[in-house]
Amino acid sequence: MIFEPGFLGTKAPLFMDIITIFFAVMPIILLISVSFAKAKNYKLHFASQAIALALALVITVFFEVCVRISGGFLEWSKNANVNYDFILTFLVIHIFIAILAVGGWLYLFISSYKRYKALGYEGFKNTNHKKIGLSIFLALTISSAMGVYIYYALFIY
Ligand code: HEM
Repeated sequence: MIFEPGFLGTKAPLFMDIITIFFAVMPIILLISVSFAKAKNYKLHFASQAIALALALVITVFFEVCVRISGGFLEWSKNANVNYDFILTFLVIHIFIAILAVGGWLYLFISSYKRYKALGYEGFKNTNHKKIGLSIFLALTISSAMGVYIYYALFIY
């Protein structure tokens, strides 16, 4: 079922449609979470970060399993019209940025949680939290955009 063509009406299987839509929407979810912090609603900022991070990790594992079962990139690139070397290089860069972004996200979440437990929300004054948080938001948004482009190149172009 999830390996059958999905609801977007492209050549992609259903699971690719679900994952692509999730990651396309994720920057908006992150923006909402940051807007909670801007409004000093730190409880909601924390809760929304926890939910977004957990969802991203679960969906990434689901994605990895489905891609392995369905033959993955090599199989899809055979039927795609895009230049193979170009999309392979693009994919490697995408994976590199995505690992850094999610690794940084996990690090910032865990270190922020520990700081909150030890010092409360006051403990975030005079830290780099805002700077690192914005960098991670940017890296995650670039990863998402690159992922959407890979979907387009493999299944629509
Ligand atoms: C346990 C998790 C977290 C807690 C308790 C927490 C708490 C806070 C607090 C207290 C602030 C205000 C800091 C200040 O006054 O300068 C803040 C701001 C911010 N946080 Fe977090 N945070 C968490 C996780 C994250 C994560 C994982 C990200 C990014 C991926 C993030 C992104 C941001 C950003 C961008 C701001 C700045 C908002 C603004 O422009 O004012 N936070 N956070």
